[in-house]
Amino acid sequence: MSCQPIGLFDSGVGGLSVLLELERQLPTENIIYFADTLHMPYGPRSPEQLRQYVFAILQFLQEQNVKLVIMACNTSSAVVLPFAQEKFPLPMIGMIEPVVQQLALSPVRRLGVMATEATVQSGTYSRELKKAGFTGEVYCQPCPELAALVEMGVGNSRLASVLQECSQPLIQAQVEQVVLGCTHYPFASKALSTALGNDILLLDPATYVVAEAKHFLERKQLLRNELTAAQHLAYVSGSLPAFEQRAEQLLGRSLKAQPVGFSAEQANYHLLS
Ligand code: DGL
Repeated sequence: MSCQPIGLFDSGVGGLSVLLELERQLPTENIIYFADTLHMPYGPRSPEQLRQYVFAILQFLQEQNVKLVIMACNTSSAVVLPFAQEKFPLPMIGMIEPVVQQLALSPVRRLGVMATEATVQSGTYSRELKKAGFTGEVYCQPCPELAALVEMGVGNSRLASVLQECSQPLIQAQVEQVVLGCTHYPFASKALSTALGNDILLLDPATYVVAEAKHFLERKQLLRNELTAAQHLAYVSGSLPAFEQRAEQLLGRSLKAQPVGFSAEQANYHLLS
C-alpha cells in the first residue's frame, strides 16, 4: 500500500481525459497533474525540444516522489518514452502500448489514428501495431490545429471545419475504428463522431492505459487502499487562471493548481509561490 501520488502530465488540459478515467478506475489514488501550457502545443515541436520539456517534467515529478508516471500525452509517448525510460528510474506508462496490445487482438481490418503532427511523423503507432501483430491497414491522420482548439475551448464553427478536414481522408479510406491518438481529442468526441459518421467507432486509449496502471499498482502492492478522499493537485507552467478555468469546464469541478516556472538555461521546472 502506498499513498505516494501518481504523476500525470500533458502539454495542457488534454491529459485531464486520462485523469477522468483514473478517477473512474482508481478513485482513491492521489494524483499530481503537470500541465506544460507554457510550451503547448507539443504537436509541432521537434524531437529535441520534446525531449527537453519531458525530461524536465519527469525530473519535477520525481522530486514530488510519485510512484508511477503516466505520460498522458501521445506526442511525448510517441517521441520521448524510450529515452525517458533509459534516463529515469521511475515506472512509466505511455498512451500507445496498451491500446496497441488491445488492437492486436481485434478483428479490425482498416484502422484510423488521429494524432498530432509529431506523433504521426514518429510512425510509432504504425510500427508498434505491426510489432504487436496487427495485420490490418493503418491510416494515420495528423490534425494540426485540433489540440489547440480544445485547449482554448473556442467556438464550434472553427472546430467543425477542422474536424471535417481531418475526417475526410479517414472516411475515404473506409476505416472501421479511429484511435483518438491525442489526449485532447476525447473532449471533442461528440463533434468528431458527427464529422466521421456514427458508424465509425472511436477508441480512447485512456481506458487501457489506466487498466494497465491499475494492474501495475496491484502487482507491486502500491495501491492506496485508504477511504479518506484522494488529493488531486495540478502544476501549471503557463497561465494559471486560463488552465483553472478550462479545467473546470472540462471536469465539471475545480482542480487545485499551483504555478511552476521554467528556466530555459537549466531546462528545469521549479515551484513558484
Ligand atoms: N495532448 C497531447 C497528445 O496527446 C499533446 C497535444 C499538443 O500539445 O499538441 O498528443
